[in-house]
Amino acid sequence: MVDLASLNSRFAIPGVATVGAGHGGLPVVQISKPGVCTGSVYLHGAHVTAWRPEGAEEVLWLSEKSAWQGDKPIRGGVPVCFPWFGPRNSKDYPDSPMHGFARFKAWDLESVTDSPAGVTVVLRLQNDAATMALWPVPFTLRHRITFGRELQMALEFANKSDAAVTFEEAQHTYFSVGDVRQVRISGLEGRRYIDKTDGFQEKQQAGDVTITAETDRVYLSTPDPITITDPVKRRRILIHKENSLATVIWNPWIAKAKAMADFGDEEWPGMLCAETASAGPHAVRAAPGQMQVMATRVAVAGM
Ligand code: BG6
Repeated sequence: MVDLASLNSRFAIPGVATVGAGHGGLPVVQISKPGVCTGSVYLHGAHVTAWRPEGAEEVLWLSEKSAWQGDKPIRGGVPVCFPWFGPRNSKDYPDSPMHGFARFKAWDLESVTDSPAGVTVVLRLQNDAATMALWPVPFTLRHRITFGRELQMALEFANKSDAAVTFEEAQHTYFSVGDVRQVRISGLEGRRYIDKTDGFQEKQQAGDVTITAETDRVYLSTPDPITITDPVKRRRILIHKENSLATVIWNPWIAKAKAMADFGDEEWPGMLCAETASAGPHAVRAAPGQMQVMATRVAVAGM
C-alpha cells in the first residue's frame, strides 16, 4: 500500500505540485503551475489524465464511466501500452491483457521537478514476478512527462537482459474534440494503413482523415507531425512524434461504445484517439543493455 502522506512530503512542490488520493483513492500527482498549465498523472499506469494550458480548454478526454481500480485501465487520458499493442499474438500466454501489462501496474514515482518551462514527473516500472510470468524480460521503463505550455511525454525503455528483445508500445492519447464527425486529421495523407474494422486489409489514405464510422487504423511509416483541426472547439491540436513509425487513429462510434462497460453510450462524439505507437511491422528491437525512447509532444493553437 502506498503511503500518500509520505509520497507527498517527498515529492510535493509548494504552489505547483501535490501528491494525493484521486478517483478510487488511486495516487495522483496534481500539477497547477500559474501562468503555464494544470494537469494530472496517476501512478496507476503512469497515466496522464488531464492537461490544460492556461487560457485553453482541457485537451485530453476522460470517460465519465472510467473504472478507477488498480486491476483495470483508466478510460481516457494517455494509457501506456507496453510490451505489446492490442491483443497479444501468442498462444503460449493466453492470460495476456489487451495492450500489455503497463497500464494495469502501479508505477513508482521517481521525481517531480519544476522549471520555467514546466513541471516534469518521472514514473518508473520494473520487471517483477508477475511481468516475468507474462514476458520473461528484465527491463526498466520510465514515463517522463513535462506539463508545460506543451505536453511532453517520453517513454524510455532500458533492456536489462543479455539478449535482444522485441516489443510494442503506444502512448494511446485520447483527445477531447467538439464533434468527432467534424474534425480533420492532416499529416497522414498518402500513407498506407491497416484497417482493423475491415479484416486488417491494407489501404491507402487519400487526403485528410475524417471520421464517418467506427475507425480503427494503424497508419504505417508515419514519423511526421499530425494535426487535428476541430472547428467546433475552434482549435488545432498539434502532435509531434519521436521514434514512432506507427500512428493509430481510433473512435469506437455507436455500437462499440455501447459494448464497453467503461465508456458512456453517448460519449463517442467527444473523443478521438491519435496514438504514438511502435507496433506491428514497426515493433522495436532493442539490443542487450540498449535504451530506447519514444516520445510525443502536444501543443494547441487557434484556427
Ligand atoms: C485502440 C485499438 O488502440 O485501442 C482498438 O486499435 C481498441 O482496437 C482500442 O479497441 C481500445 O482498447 P481498450 O483495450 O482500451 O478497450
